[in-house]
This record gives sequence, structure tokens and C-alpha cells, in this order.
Amino acid sequence: MIKLSKRLDLIYDLIPHNAIVADVGTDHGWLIIKAVMTGKVSLAFGLDIAEGPLSHAKANVENYGLEDRITLLKMDGLSQFSEPCDTFVIAGMGAETIWSILEQASFKTTDRILIQSNTDLPWLRKTLFMNGFRIIDERFIIDHNKPVFILVCEYRQTSFTLIDQYIGPVLKNAKDNLAYSKYLVSRCNHLSEISKYNQSIVEEFNVLRTFIETE
Ligand SMILES: C[S@@+](CC[C@H](N)C(=O)[O-])C[C@H]1O[C@@H](n2cnc3c(N)ncnc32)[C@H](O)[C@@H]1O
Repeated sequence: MIKLSKRLDLIYDLIPHNAIVADVGTDHGWLIIKAVMTGKVSLAFGLDIAEGPLSHAKANVENYGLEDRITLLKMDGLSQFSEPCDTFVIAGMGAETIWSILEQASFKTTDRILIQSNTDLPWLRKTLFMNGFRIIDERFIIDHNKPVFILVCEYRQTSFTLIDQYIGPVLKNAKDNLAYSKYLVSRCNHLSEISKYNQSIVEEFNVLRTFIETE
């Protein structure tokens, strides 16, 4: 069986059974190959803007004989995509690229959108909220010594606070997640040092400090 990284495995776990998946920025295609091979999903689309990753994915899909269930498409984001998917994965990219893909797409309220950003998560959470997306679940793990956050979103309006932006609307209630509590304390200590020189992170520092003190 295909062995995914801890990060991709968690995204795999969050794909609903029997979903039709579009993996935007599929690169190697391993996530959807595993999802189809295990029977978790019956149909998947792998989208990528670049020829190199797509030909890599094509070779992998052909190697496993999955051409009838996985379609690979060269395209920029989702703006030209019209297949009947209900689950979208956008992972392993920076927050601005992820947002540029999301803002050009149109989603149904029943769609599930799995997002894993390599950068600026508070900004992305805020932008999602301000544009009608709701974070219904969020997972935190450490993979290869790096913090990894995976957002599970739907497209529907909701309210938004600074705690949601900096801590996460779901993770703020995950009191038993010791790895995340430890991460928040170490991030707060780090911000405490650099906030002396960088005004722009004072807001995040204050939110984290208040959150930690009231826990
Ligand atoms: C670092 S890889 C991540 C691969 C995989 N999603 C993962 O999480 O392991 C990013 C991939 O996204 C693709 N990509 C970047 N911008 C894109 C866009 N606007 N539309 C589609 N694919 C894009 C890149 O070509 C690359 O293959």
C-alpha cells in the first residue's frame, strides 16, 4: 500500500467516504491515488498548473492502472473546472496562492474544502471568514519537525473573532490537544521576544498571551 507522509495521511483521513475529489496542485498525485486505490473514493481529479508535476502524476496513475478513475487536468486553480466534485483539496501551497485559487472558484454549500497552507494561517483564516467560508474542523500535527494545520471548510457565512483568527475556531476548543498547547506557549514566547522590534505581530502576541492565561 502507498505510504503517504503524516501530513498527506491526515488529509486522506479527512476526505469523506464516497466523495468525488478534486486535488488542486496534485503534483505527484499520491493523495488521490491512495484514495482511489483503497476504495475510499471512486472518482478523482488531479489538477496542476505545471506540466512537470502532471506528467509525474500521469506516470504514477498509469503505473497503478487507475486511468479510468483518475483524470489529470492542466489548469490554473479551479476557475475553468466544471466537473461534479464535492470535495476539494488545496494543500502544500502558500496562503496567497491558496486564496487566489479559492476566490476564483465557485462552491456549493454542501462542498467540503480541505486546506493546508504552508504560510500565514491567521491571515488565511481571516480571509476565509470574511469571504463566506466557515472552518468546521481544524487539525494540528507536527510533521518533519514542522507545525501542520489542516482546515476543513464549507462555503457559508459565519461570525469571526481574533481568537478564531490566531488560535483557530475549532482548535480554540481542543483543550486536550497537548501538542497544540505546547506549540502555542512556544510561539507566544517567540512573539514576546520579537514583538519588541515588530509592531505588526503585537496583536497576535496579545491574543495568544490572553488565551494561554485564561486557559
Ligand atoms: C508543493 S506542491 C504540493 C503538492 C501536494 N498538494 C501536497 O500537498 O503534497 C504544490 C503544487 O501545486 C501546483 N500549483 C501551484 N499553483 C497552482 C495553481 N494556481 N493551480 C494549480 N496548481 C498549482 C504546483 O505546480 C505544485 O505541483
